[in-house]
Amino acid sequence: MGAEPVDMRVSLGPLQLKNPVVAASGTYGYGEEYAELVDPSLLGGIVVKGLSLKPREGNPPPRIVETPCGMLNAIGLANCGLDRFLAEKVPLLDNLDTAVIVNIYGHSTAEYGDLAEALRGVDAVDALEVNISCPNVECGGLAFGTDPLAAARVTESVVRHADKPVIVKLSPNVTDIRVIARAVEAAGADALSLINTLTGMAVDVASRRPLLGNVSGGLSGPAIKPVALYMLYQTVRAVHIPVMGMGGIMGARDALEFLITGATALQVGTAHFVDPRASIEIVAGIELYCRDHGIRRVADLSGTLVV
Ligand SMILES: Cc1cc2nc3c(=O)[nH]c(=O)nc-3n(C[C@H](O)[C@H](O)[C@H](O)COP(=O)(O)O)c2cc1C
Repeated sequence: MGAEPVDMRVSLGPLQLKNPVVAASGTYGYGEEYAELVDPSLLGGIVVKGLSLKPREGNPPPRIVETPCGMLNAIGLANCGLDRFLAEKVPLLDNLDTAVIVNIYGHSTAEYGDLAEALRGVDAVDALEVNISCPNVECGGLAFGTDPLAAARVTESVVRHADKPVIVKLSPNVTDIRVIARAVEAAGADALSLINTLTGMAVDVASRRPLLGNVSGGLSGPAIKPVALYMLYQTVRAVHIPVMGMGGIMGARDALEFLITGATALQVGTAHFVDPRASIEIVAGIELYCRDHGIRRVADLSGTLVV
């Protein structure tokens, strides 16, 4: 009986994943960077680095600082822009045997729609993740992610132009995440993902300067897990669409907490900087847990929290 295979497939609305573990945007490049170390086809999917219409250089260095229980980054959404993405990255992504989700962000509602339009018909791309939650750039979307009306407008614009499932990525830098989640759901999102990083900073006492070139950055990793888990708990009770949970998932036990709390799927980010195999091992750990607990379908584990 213990040898029964576990059905690891999950559905995020119209998007089918072979398992619930997805590499988070900005922490897994375009898949190719890790290909020599790990086989991306073992993952449910990968979310590629945030894409904008025009290339972006990002923020001045230093852009990454380690803190006692997490990391601060202020990359500033550096990326190659739409044209090079289509010419150079899409052919590589086409070869990957896993779901490819493209994380998009714009400076205006129209720009988000333009990106969705430009990705129409691109077969290598399975879904869009709309970043309305980056805290590290002036117009990086957070302005859209903290105002329910603006969040709804961006979502509508992407949904109107896209021919793929639309996942909207929410910010924790808000008073009540449920208000934004409901607005985005009403605007037609197929799924939500949360959380993006929490705004933070660190100071060098010798120079008395901020350690990040940008002064502040986004905090990720173990430090944010309890916050992420609680926001997931609140969100899954507020909406009817599926939710991907993330924030400080470093191992299978963390991942199981998110699934039990109600996530349909998970994203793993910072853990890749500690161990590039982290997400693959999380897939194996979830499967083992299901086997040990007689759970045939991982989807049955979602939302089994007893309160
Ligand atoms: C170096 C780095 C770059 C990131 N870049 C992006 C990005 O381009 N778009 C985005 O939506 N989130 C980005 N994120 C946020 C992650 O996708 C994720 O939401 C966050 O790190 C929380 O998960 P974690 O604690 O597992 O890392 C980035 C995070 C890090 C650490």
